[in-house]
Amino acid sequence: MCGIIGYIGEKDIQKVLTTGLKKLEYRGYDSVGIAVHNGDSVQVNKSKGRLEELHQQLDQHSFSGMLGIGHTRWATHGHPSDENSHPHTDANKDFAIVHNGIIENYLEIKRELIEKGYTFSSETDSEVISHLFYHLYDGDMVATIQQVVKRLKGAYALGIVSEHEPDRLYAVREASPLIIGTGEEEALISSDIPAVLDHTRDIYILEDGEMAILTKDDITLLQTSTGEQLSRDIFRVDWDVEQAEKNGYDHFMLKEIHEQPEALKKTTAGRVNQERKTVKFDELQWSRDRIEQWDKVTIVACGTAYHAGLIGKHVIEELTRIPVDVEVASEFRYRRPIVNEKTLVIVISQSGETADTLAALRQSQHLGANVLAITNVVGSSIAREADEVILTMAGPEIAVASTKAYTTQVLSFYLLGIYLAQIKQTITEDYRQQLLQSILDIPNQMEELLEHSAALRRYSESIKDASSLFFIGRGLDHAVALEGSLKLKEISYIHSEAYAAGELKHGTLALIEEGTPIIALITQEEVSEKMMGNIKEVKARGAQVLGVSMQGNMDILEYVDDGCYIPESLSLVTPLLTVVPLQLISYYTSLALGNDVDKPRNLAKSVTVE
Ligand code: AGP
Ligand code: GLU
Repeated sequence: MCGIIGYIGEKDIQKVLTTGLKKLEYRGYDSVGIAVHNGDSVQVNKSKGRLEELHQQLDQHSFSGMLGIGHTRWATHGHPSDENSHPHTDANKDFAIVHNGIIENYLEIKRELIEKGYTFSSETDSEVISHLFYHLYDGDMVATIQQVVKRLKGAYALGIVSEHEPDRLYAVREASPLIIGTGEEEALISSDIPAVLDHTRDIYILEDGEMAILTKDDITLLQTSTGEQLSRDIFRVDWDVEQAEKNGYDHFMLKEIHEQPEALKKTTAGRVNQERKTVKFDELQWSRDRIEQWDKVTIVACGTAYHAGLIGKHVIEELTRIPVDVEVASEFRYRRPIVNEKTLVIVISQSGETADTLAALRQSQHLGANVLAITNVVGSSIAREADEVILTMAGPEIAVASTKAYTTQVLSFYLLGIYLAQIKQTITEDYRQQLLQSILDIPNQMEELLEHSAALRRYSESIKDASSLFFIGRGLDHAVALEGSLKLKEISYIHSEAYAAGELKHGTLALIEEGTPIIALITQEEVSEKMMGNIKEVKARGAQVLGVSMQGNMDILEYVDDGCYIPESLSLVTPLLTVVPLQLISYYTSLALGNDVDKPRNLAKSVTVE
């Protein structure tokens, strides 16, 4: 999920690979490595940590050659360590590979290879690939690649160097980005455009199910499964490096909003049995007895992660009937929380480094609770110290305003809720199947939603000068409203509040006056009539209301000034869709105000101090 570079040509290989990796640093990574074919053999140097550490090692022992691959790792399977860093090789070093993505069925392949006598030196999913190459190699690289990928399920962009072929670099793509750069007597591969721009602006974009063979003089693109040769137009990059880092988007936040469908698919990958519609978490070590023993769940987190926790409460209570508390970590840690062996504590943190959340984790363990972390960063303090970890597969999140981390956290709660309900038998098989189908449908529905953002942009222009704004909703919509409001405050600097719609008349209604913008979420069917009543209350005081509702619910237009529609799905999973227009509204409002969208004032991405 992080960075790949590969090069074939006459330039100083070590320099091309390390400067290429430097260009990928902005994506965030935990380890780094390169492999170079020196004409005789393949040499590898890799280590946990930053690129500087690799440089130090290379100062002692430098590499030369014409062919090489490099990698920055964002760990998904196995802690950041020297052994787990890429490139990975087989025992003979006949093949070196770099991999971005996740191999869902790696355990099965690993077991099979171990039985055949292969030994593994890392905990990664990726290492199975280098051993598979050794195992299946028959003298023909294209055929071998076809055999290898037939075995792989999941997402992969691969750069492959074979000791047998010092003049060829191979690349394969399935559900993880990969581009090919073509220069004069040189060619490159990379997971991202910035890494090749020092050398060329002419690129081919590899599509899913395609592979490429690169020599220094030409590039051949093939359909991986059939070997059929493809012709493709060159794409000439006219972006500058900064734009290229954002993949052509103006900001990381917008890029990350658009990455959500993919991030959700990756978070589901390997955890849902699509045919039987069941959830499995190979990573969780809980016994049935242990699960039965919990009489309470306590969720602790900060900011956006806390808002994901609020959805988690609804979901776990609804599916398992276990009572759930949700608390912000900075409050939790300074009181005497009632947490013990019978409590499951769930801490949520994108970065895995938030000081208050980490303190809450330690305190809960001290009180005897089992702590599950939902985090995006393997090897982070929270991931290391928690008893159990569910990783969100959002990939690095760079914008301070969290978007794809939130939706993957929320998704993790759905999967966890269903998993616990399966064990506790608290929902029917029918309902479970329906729920999982809805969850599997979300990425496509989100794509659809993202295609229609022009109206939200216009709406954002209309609220940019407001001094205050309100988000209202009931049930799950209230939890989403809180997130929408935080997002807007954080990057537009406009004051906003989120209210449980039924609470308005207990005080806040006094603030509503002519023209006050209100965003009303009306996706929860059981309470939609009540919402209409609340909308009438605010309209009567002059509010300008944007209603966010399900497609087909055109009746709301009689009540609101403007409508925004999301694709229909089960009420329980709708938050994954409802939040998207709110993210876009905050983005476009911030943009209209000329703010620094990705780095809002006074805020940091990771809050590692109290
Ligand atoms: C969200 O947009 C914020 N930047 C912030 O609230 C964030 O969610 C919070 O600081 C928690 O961070 P964490 O998930 O890394 O623990
Ligand atoms: N899943 C692989 C690993 O954990 C690759 C991660 C990446 O894309 O950086 O090593």
